[in-house]
This record gives sequence, structure tokens and C-alpha cells, in this order.
Amino acid sequence: MLTAATQSDAPMSFALTEEQRLIKETVNEIAQAEFAPKAAEVDQKHRFPRENFELIASSDLCGLPFPEEYGGAGMDNVSYAIVVEELAKACATTSVIYSAHVSLCAKPIYIFGTEEQKKKFLTPLCKGEKLGAFALSEPGSGSDAAAAKCTAVRKGDHFILNGSKNWITNGIEADTYLVIAQTDSSLKHKGLIALLVEKGTPGFTFGKLEDKLGIKGSSTCQINFEDSPIPVENMLAGPQDGFKVSMVTLDGGRIGIAAQAVGIAQGAWDHAFKYSKERVAFNQTINKFQAIQFMLAEMQTEIDAARLLTWHAARGQDLGVKFTKEAAHAKLYAAEVAMRSTTKCVQIFGGYGYVTDYPVERYMRDAKITEIYEGTSEVQRLVIAQNVLKGL
Ligand code: CAA
Repeated sequence: MLTAATQSDAPMSFALTEEQRLIKETVNEIAQAEFAPKAAEVDQKHRFPRENFELIASSDLCGLPFPEEYGGAGMDNVSYAIVVEELAKACATTSVIYSAHVSLCAKPIYIFGTEEQKKKFLTPLCKGEKLGAFALSEPGSGSDAAAAKCTAVRKGDHFILNGSKNWITNGIEADTYLVIAQTDSSLKHKGLIALLVEKGTPGFTFGKLEDKLGIKGSSTCQINFEDSPIPVENMLAGPQDGFKVSMVTLDGGRIGIAAQAVGIAQGAWDHAFKYSKERVAFNQTINKFQAIQFMLAEMQTEIDAARLLTWHAARGQDLGVKFTKEAAHAKLYAAEVAMRSTTKCVQIFGGYGYVTDYPVERYMRDAKITEIYEGTSEVQRLVIAQNVLKGL
């Protein structure tokens, strides 16, 4: 008899290479054995699970999609999406710590970095010796990323950073931050630069940890700069490239969040499926009722579709073709599927779904952020529209 997991994987398994299947199985085993059992505690105590990141690092996953010469595993982006999904099925907090580290910090250094920058910054990130973060949003600019006001003024061999960045995933816990700052506001988005900033830089401080609805164990906070000197050699790409670096970074990041949303939806579905076979009402288990069967069927259809969109976008990234629209498709759809599905999973559990005795309420809370960070669903629609209309 098929288990829930094999049923849900079966429709797509033909597309995976042997290596991808192996990484899926391996990460599934680690995540279910090590991360799932303490996901509720991490959530309830708002605890950053440092030991999860360390296990991810010692399992050689931190540099998964990067070449071995930088300490990576030399695997592809489809494998990366698979890893994020498996982590999110067990613990959404852990999946976002990992995806922000890989997609939002290590990836842009790999794409835009000089050889020296890769050796200095990328290698320790790939080895998991350092944790990465990305700082684009500000108190007054989220969706309108080009409106960033944090300033970087050139003074000799340094840029002097001043200002605040908001909603920084891995906030206080990270070591390496990719910070977007404005050098000349009259140039608008062309005035933005991308700087690699290390923890411990003078004038670099942290605001309070945000008290969030979900992904509570991931450290999210404001970071502040007051006359912080950043060496000129820490600038990633060119002096007018900060916005481009951000957009390219987010294209890849959105695949990570789509995979996270798929994992959250699938994880909640697996719990609801199991519960429906155990819970008795009106003298039969509730999975015998068509109302429940239709909910499970519809959810699994949407989750499989979201996974396909995610892998399709990751495949585009692997092939080196432009995948901006595909990443937005995947992130938009997967995030909305995660929200719809987790809400239905709570419904299947009834009253038990609404309390913390079962994990589905956590999945529902964790799902919401996937519609917001790394570009809201409205921004994804905008990106898709821009890319679709461009061809007309
Ligand atoms: N790749 C490369 N270049 C791109 C690009 C892409 N995907 N998208 C846009 N560009 C380029 C354009 O070609 C254009 O270049 P030129 O000036 O040379 O012609 C330039 O960028 C400006 O493009 P737009 O006019 O389209 O830019 P815009 O100001 O209208 O913004 C937007 C478009 C899609 C709304 C963008 O601002 C955006 O993505 N906003 C959302 C930001 C976001 O996702 N923030 C989340 C931050 S991370 C986070 O959530 C925290 C965390 O830690 C997880």
C-alpha cells in the first residue's frame, strides 16, 4: 500500500534524476528525524534552531548549488528546490533560514562576485561556517525596492553606510549581509549599490526581534548603520548595479519561497491525510466522507501543480535562460496554494486543528508569509504582467 508521501511524490518522480531522488530521500530522512520533532518547540519559544543549521552544514547542503571549488556540492537548482521543500515539510523556520542563506546571500556572490569576493565570502557560506542574510527592504520601502534611502557615501577606500534595513531574515544570527544602499538619489534605481557587510562592522547594530505570526524561530529584525565604513572592495558588481543585483537575487529567491510554500502545503496535507484515516465520526473514519476526500484531492492537485511550476522555474535557472516570469508564476501560485491548503487542513482537523496539540495551525501561520516576503503576491502579478505584456 502506498504511504501518503509516496502517493504525493509519484506523479512527479519520473522527472527526477537518480541524484535528485537521493537528495530528496536523504533530506527527508534528516528533516523528519531531526527537525520535525522540535518544530513546535522552536515555534512556541521563538527559538532560532542553530543546531538545525549546523546539521544542514555538516550534511554539505549549505553550498548545494555551488561549485566544489568554493566548498559547494556542485548540484543543480532543482535539487535546491527539493531540499527547501523537504525542510519546509518538517519545519518552515528551518527552511527559510536555509533559503535566505543560499538564495539571498550566497547566490548573488556566486553570480556577481569577483574571484577574491567568492574566496573570502562565498566559501565560508558554502561550508556553513558563516550564515548569510540579504538587506533590501526598509521601514519606508518594501515592494517599491528602488525607493531605498539607506545611504552609501564614498570616502577614500570606503563607503560610509547610514540608515536602516527592515525584515532581515537571519537578522541577528547572520555573519555576512548583502546590503543595498543609495549612493545618489537623483539616479533613482541606478544610484543603488550592493555591499557585502560583515557582522562587527563599527556602527552596525540590531533592532528588536520581530514577534511574527509564523516562522517564529527565524530571527527577523531591523538592522541599523551609523557611519559604518565598508571597504570599496566589498561592492558586488558595478556602482550602478545594486537594483539589478537585487532583482536577479529575488528571481532565484522566489524559487526558494515557492519550494517552501509547496513543502508547507505538503506537510500539512500529510498530517491531514493521516488524521482523516484515524478520526471517527458518525461511525466511520472521516476519510470515507466525500466532503473530506474532495478536499484532499483538490489540495493534492494544486500542490502537485505548484511543485511542477517550481521545478520548471528551477530548471530554467539551471539551463541559464531567463526565468523571471517562471519564478513569479511559481511563487505566486505556490504561496496561494499553501494558504488555501493549510486552511483546509485545519478544517479537516476541526477543533483540534485550531489548537497547538496538532501541528496544522502552525503550518497555516507559517504559510501566510510566503504570500508576502521576497515580493508579495501583488508584486508577482506585476512581474508576470510586465513580462507577458513585453512580448505584445
Ligand atoms: N532581472 C534583471 N533586471 C531587472 C529585473 C530582473 N528580474 N527586473 C527589473 N530589472 C531591471 C529593468 O530591466 C530596469 O533596468 P533599466 O533601468 O536598465 O532599464 C530596472 O531593473 C528597473 O526595472 P523596473 O522599472 O521594472 O523597476 P520598478 O521600480 O518598477 O520595480 C518591482 C519593479 C518588480 C516592483 C521590484 O521593485 C520588486 O521586485 N519589488 C519587490 C521587492 C521584494 O521582493 N522585496 C523583498 C525583499 S527580501 C525579503 O523579503 C526579506 C527577507 O529577508 C526574506
